[in-house]
Amino acid sequence: MNEKFALLRLSTDWVEKRGAAALFLGLGKPAVRHDRGKRKLTIGRVFRAFWGPAATVENGEIRLQYAFPLLAPRHHRTVEDTVSRYSIPSPLTRLETLKASIVLLPGDGIGPEITQQAKRVLEAVGDVFGHEFSFESHLIGGIAIDETGNPLPDETIDACRNADAVLLGAVGGPKWDDPAAKTRPEAGLLKIRKELGLFANLRPIKLFDELIDASPLKREIIEGTDILFLRELTGGIYFGESGRSGSGANETATQAMVYSVYEVERIVRMAAQAAKGRDNRLTSVDKANVLEPSRLWRQVAARVMAEEFPEVQYDVVLIDAMAMHLINRPSDFDVVVTGNMFGDILTDEASMLPGSLGMLPSASLGSDGPGLYEPIHGSAPDIAGKGIANPLATILAAAMLLRHSLQLETEAVAIETAVANVLASGLRTADIARGGASIGTEEMGDAVVQRIAK
Ligand code: IPM
Ligand code: MG
Repeated sequence: MNEKFALLRLSTDWVEKRGAAALFLGLGKPAVRHDRGKRKLTIGRVFRAFWGPAATVENGEIRLQYAFPLLAPRHHRTVEDTVSRYSIPSPLTRLETLKASIVLLPGDGIGPEITQQAKRVLEAVGDVFGHEFSFESHLIGGIAIDETGNPLPDETIDACRNADAVLLGAVGGPKWDDPAAKTRPEAGLLKIRKELGLFANLRPIKLFDELIDASPLKREIIEGTDILFLRELTGGIYFGESGRSGSGANETATQAMVYSVYEVERIVRMAAQAAKGRDNRLTSVDKANVLEPSRLWRQVAARVMAEEFPEVQYDVVLIDAMAMHLINRPSDFDVVVTGNMFGDILTDEASMLPGSLGMLPSASLGSDGPGLYEPIHGSAPDIAGKGIANPLATILAAAMLLRHSLQLETEAVAIETAVANVLASGLRTADIARGGASIGTEEMGDAVVQRIAK
């Protein structure tokens, strides 16, 4: 399923101008002959014989499919500005079609509204690129408590385990906020992370040029900011033993922060790998001047970096200082790795840099199995059901889903490009409109869908 084929889409005009020879670039064999007089293309036998209908002419476009997973990207780099690349699975198994099952966990508050728009965008990608995505919705969070008494019913866990990827809206709301309640919506989210072994939470903080002025920080401070946070997600204080004892004024509550060597190793490794594919810089954030788990974290991280990633520029910063640096010099950071709670707090802080929480997606990944994708923002109960929530973070989470769980990079970029184009065209939901004209959740979904379809 992961084998990649590339599909070139060239207009006949393009071929007219540059000549068919250009088509052979990187392909190694003359696969296409262009008959100028008849404005007709003939497809070489090599491709036809091995790969079925390797090329078709459709609406003035030549669609040429070729089957060199390794060569394709290089070829595309050669003619990048003139062709667009689509990744499709092996035609030997499924011609041009990737089948993937996606579990939707809409959850609470605005969750159902925004997930619905992301689903529509995925369907549009399926139509345009020829993939079959199937969707199943399941319960999580407050709605699951209301309907089953359990924030994460077993049925939901099973469905997620059997899926290729999971797309989540948001959980929680005032209705389930009673601190004395037996269970909470958030417990469902923590449990699904643990059950699926999703130890790494990727939270990219990227600026959209069009929204820079929506940031509470000055343009000169945030310009150039592009940070990838890797937050450890299944350990630390979130999952440490907790309890209460005593009574009255002597009642105490505890929650342990526990990290083991392997938990630190695997997240640091993943972060270092990510750094290698970016600007090759990694910052680890801890509180080693006070906390024992942080001292372990710091030792293990330093060893992994020295032994396995000597080429990656590495430094450590204390969490309190990091909180400060993030608003003072955010553009200095590339990849940041940190523990569960520090990551929770820092990524909320960092999410303000681009101006709106409504734009930021996240991916939670394990060493195998389905990944879980969600917006960084919460369930926004104050605007739930009003049709005004910004679906873009969830739509961008769907792009991350295509990239990380289905290895559909081109399709992921198609979504990201569509979102950028929507913003460039001036369309805004209320949260990013800065008091100007705004559109609703569904209209925003429509706008993205339309641009994917093009
Ligand atoms: C997040 C959220 C969750 C967390 C809550 C809803 C449990 O704040 O994903 O950042 O604390 O991890
Ligand atoms: Mg959070």
